[in-house]
Amino acid sequence: MKNILWATLTANGNYAQSGPENPPKKETLDDFFTHAKAAGNFIVGRRTFEGMRGNGGPGPFADIDIVVVSQSATEIPGVKVVRLPEEALDYLKENGHQTALISGGADIHNSFLGQGLVDEVIFNVAPVLEGRGLNLLIDKDNYCFKHVQLLDCKPLGSGVVQLRYAIDRTVS
Ligand SMILES: NC(=O)c1ccc[n+]([C@@H]2O[C@H](COP(=O)([O-])OP(=O)(O)OC[C@H]3O[C@@H](n4cnc5c(N)ncnc54)[C@H](OP(=O)(O)O)[C@@H]3O)[C@@H](O)[C@H]2O)c1
Repeated sequence: MKNILWATLTANGNYAQSGPENPPKKETLDDFFTHAKAAGNFIVGRRTFEGMRGNGGPGPFADIDIVVVSQSATEIPGVKVVRLPEEALDYLKENGHQTALISGGADIHNSFLGQGLVDEVIFNVAPVLEGRGLNLLIDKDNYCFKHVQLLDCKPLGSGVVQLRYAIDRTVS
């Protein structure tokens, strides 16, 4: 199974946060729906899921396998709850998925990156600058780096640019 991390970054390289005063651009939301539909699933952290659940209805994700990673939540109707990132991948693999879409938030993305579980990243760079914020890191405690291969680069409209990179998991 191919594990794709999907995230929005800011123009100054932060992990983008959104809220009522700084909503995500339509282009990034549309792009997320496209990738979620293509994968047939997404993996999400408990906090981001609570933010996106809205009125609790299935909304545009009716046919999509949603996996919520949480140590605290028990059952959530309509979604699979797992305790660990690897459990989320095992669940999707067992259910025949070829691709896993890792959709955020920051804790979840950093957990998957830190554990070397990501094959490809899709970054949508939004035309916004932020002050002190969140970061995506392959190691939260130490300086290190990993070269990645640029696969694609394209504008999505309204100033959003999409970058795709492959990560070779066999090379440390
Ligand atoms: N830029 C983007 O693409 C993007 C995408 C989504 C969200 N966001 C932003 O990200 C922020 C929310 O992210 P967040 O980091 O606060 O929350 P999050 O990653 O959505 O959820 C965090 C929760 O997930 C569970 N979790 C995380 N890592 C885990 C692990 N290794 N094992 C087991 N459970 C784990 C824990 O749940 P329990 O507490 O229940 O144990 C934790 O409290 C918001 O500001 C949102 O706007 C940005």
